[in-house]
Amino acid sequence: MKTQLPVTEIIQKRYSCRTYAATPISKAHHASLDAFLSENRTGPFGAGVRFKLITASTSEQTDLKDLGTYGVIKNPTGFIIGAVKDGPNSLEDFGYAMEKNILLAARLGLGTCWLGGTFTKSTFADKMNAGDDESIPAVTATGYIASGKSLLEKTMRWGAGADNRKSRQTLFFKNAFDHPLSPEESGDWNTPLEMVRIGPSASNRQPWRIVKQSDRPVFHFYMQRSKGYKTRNRILFGMADLQRVDMGIAMCHFEMTAVDRGLDGQWHFEEPDIGNLPEQTSYVASWEG
Ligand SMILES: Cc1cc2nc3c(=O)[nH]c(=O)nc-3n(C[C@H](O)[C@H](O)[C@H](O)COP(=O)(O)O)c2cc1C
Repeated sequence: MKTQLPVTEIIQKRYSCRTYAATPISKAHHASLDAFLSENRTGPFGAGVRFKLITASTSEQTDLKDLGTYGVIKNPTGFIIGAVKDGPNSLEDFGYAMEKNILLAARLGLGTCWLGGTFTKSTFADKMNAGDDESIPAVTATGYIASGKSLLEKTMRWGAGADNRKSRQTLFFKNAFDHPLSPEESGDWNTPLEMVRIGPSASNRQPWRIVKQSDRPVFHFYMQRSKGYKTRNRILFGMADLQRVDMGIAMCHFEMTAVDRGLDGQWHFEEPDIGNLPEQTSYVASWEG
């Protein structure tokens, strides 16, 4: 008998919480998170990640203001900080592994918010004792959700179009990018795809695109960049390439939902020949079901 909520419910329940209650995280929840973080050491590409849950103090709150992350986060009682060893696809692995932490926090009833910033030389990096070969592309604010959203939070959600997601016809395709994948054509795999679609992404840009092979349950994941976003973030804010982090989040949602629903599969990393790709689009990984 299953006693845990299905991952689909957790993914649907999660949203970026920017106003937290003053109640500190309970010892039991802290311990559950700590235990999970210490085991969560890598992603599908094999990069080394490590995470730590810290209790928020004034210095982190000040650091956040200085770093100019685009959200205003009120009263977070904790932060999940993570460091990843630099290397190819390290940012995708970071996104994948951090999102697993976020889904556990949501399962425990905690609110969370991804924060992309320049954390590599901040108080957060000191707390992690981050090495020269490690980066801190983002941190996660956490705590219990306050009973109402602040006006600022409501305005921000509206500004970022946080409740809007791209339609499935613009995200999922059959064989090549010129043929949208219908729900009938995706069958049982509809739910993992839908869980990708509703996932969080930096500035809600949703860079994930997925092409299914027509004859088999093989799903090729591509990143479609938003023009100028990476350069703007790097030059203006010194931020990491957050759309690659978004791709890791998509992989996490897809895999966790598939596994939860008994749909077996594995990640492979060989780019298929599916003809011309749209502008700004590049291959990331394939799920072979
Ligand atoms: C990699 C990443 C970085 C993000 N950085 C920030 C941030 O710095 N500040 C913030 O308020 N929200 C941030 N967000 C949250 C997004 O704005 C949010 O996920 C998106 O608007 C969708 O809304 P939802 O998470 O409520 O579904 C980030 C999300 C991701 C995935």
